[in-house]
Amino acid sequence: MKDPSLRVLMVEDSENDALLLIRVLRKGGYHSVYERVETAAAMKKALQERQWDIILCDHSLPNFNALSAIALLKESNIDIPLIVVTGTVGEEAAVKCMRLGARDYIMKSKMARLCPVIARELKEAQARRKHRQAEFQKKAALEELRKSEEKHLAIIENIEEGYYESDLKGNLTFFNSAMCQLLGYSREELFGINSRRFTDKENAKKLFKTFLEVYKTGNPAKAFDWQIIRKDGATRHIEASVSQLKDSSGKPIGFRGIVRDTTERKLWEEKLQQTLEILKKEVNTAIHALATALEFRDPYTAGHQSRSADLARTIATEMTLPKNKIDGIRMAGSIHDIGKLSIPAEILSKPTKLTDIEFSLIKEHAQNGYQMLKDVESPWPLAEMVYQHHERMNGTGYPRNLQGDEILLEARIMAVADVMEAMASHRPYRPSLGLQTAYEEIEKNKGILYDSAVVDSCLRLFRQKGYEFQYRNIHKM
Ligand SMILES: [Fe+2]
Repeated sequence: MKDPSLRVLMVEDSENDALLLIRVLRKGGYHSVYERVETAAAMKKALQERQWDIILCDHSLPNFNALSAIALLKESNIDIPLIVVTGTVGEEAAVKCMRLGARDYIMKSKMARLCPVIARELKEAQARRKHRQAEFQKKAALEELRKSEEKHLAIIENIEEGYYESDLKGNLTFFNSAMCQLLGYSREELFGINSRRFTDKENAKKLFKTFLEVYKTGNPAKAFDWQIIRKDGATRHIEASVSQLKDSSGKPIGFRGIVRDTTERKLWEEKLQQTLEILKKEVNTAIHALATALEFRDPYTAGHQSRSADLARTIATEMTLPKNKIDGIRMAGSIHDIGKLSIPAEILSKPTKLTDIEFSLIKEHAQNGYQMLKDVESPWPLAEMVYQHHERMNGTGYPRNLQGDEILLEARIMAVADVMEAMASHRPYRPSLGLQTAYEEIEKNKGILYDSAVVDSCLRLFRQKGYEFQYRNIHKM
């Protein structure tokens, strides 16, 4: 059995003829369910209410005929193969039916053709259905794509940054309104314009180099700085990104990216930098005054501060810390013992060993220093560095027993510089212990009391790079 559920709509006035057709179908392997109609209204109703695989239509009925049935089917816009089955039709009438939309016609005398024709028509109808489905899906996909493109275009048009696309030669092929505003050209003027038109020679070179790199490697360039010249001649600072623009086969056909005007930001940064420089100078003056005050009272500590500040700065440089951080370390190092101003001079300059009470008084200098500096307006955490310079990595330092990363890197550097200087120099109550002993102290306690990377840098400076403490110009900062 080919199809157990062949649904046949019979346009036929004779029930006997209908049964005859069903028998032929059964013989051909089709088990059919059918409905017989003999008027236009009945056919219309049957088409509306049920689904059909095939329509077998007599040529002439008392109140209906094949031509009207074909017209009605066309009107209903349903794709069901209609086959005219008749005993009387002449060739001319048959051709007319075919022209109007019948899929075939079968003479009742040649009923053997019926099943092969039905088989062919079912197959073709299925192929048409599949094609229609594919077309529908394609249309839906295209519509989705159109909507998505529309959405992206709207986003691109509404972003504050300039968006551009160019060909491989750098001629603009697409851009948004922000790009027009940025360059000061109208949309019409900007279209097709080459990037050389709005850059000077130097920037054009820079741009070419960046684009070439992106073209060669396929890697996008992000946030590169260049300058453009607007149509009105004004120069603007720009931050841009560029990536390859590819065709559907993946071949690069141009470039695209985002362009941001950074002129205001640059001006603001310059201004901020100037303010910062002024503030740094002011802090420097204040620090110098404090260090001088300490020197009058306690020349020993002043010299110690100056030398440990220089070592701390050199260690920070060796560790390739940013310049601003290095400046902060040098500054804090120069006054790290400023808290000793509040300790009686007799204790500070006592030539003999300190008692426990005296030592605990000395220990207060870290916190005292913090109190003295905490309200100083400064670009660096000076007070905090001074507060922490006696803390140790394992938490055995003072005054707060901070550990590891709780201690600022700047303070960890100062701790090593402080110990090195103190051991290598003469103290009021003892001669110098010597550099060798100082090396041993920091090496032995590397990673325990002192930061490992700081110790390594310090030892490298002394052992390999010939670093030496300077015992002159104690206030040179
Ligand atoms: Fe200290």
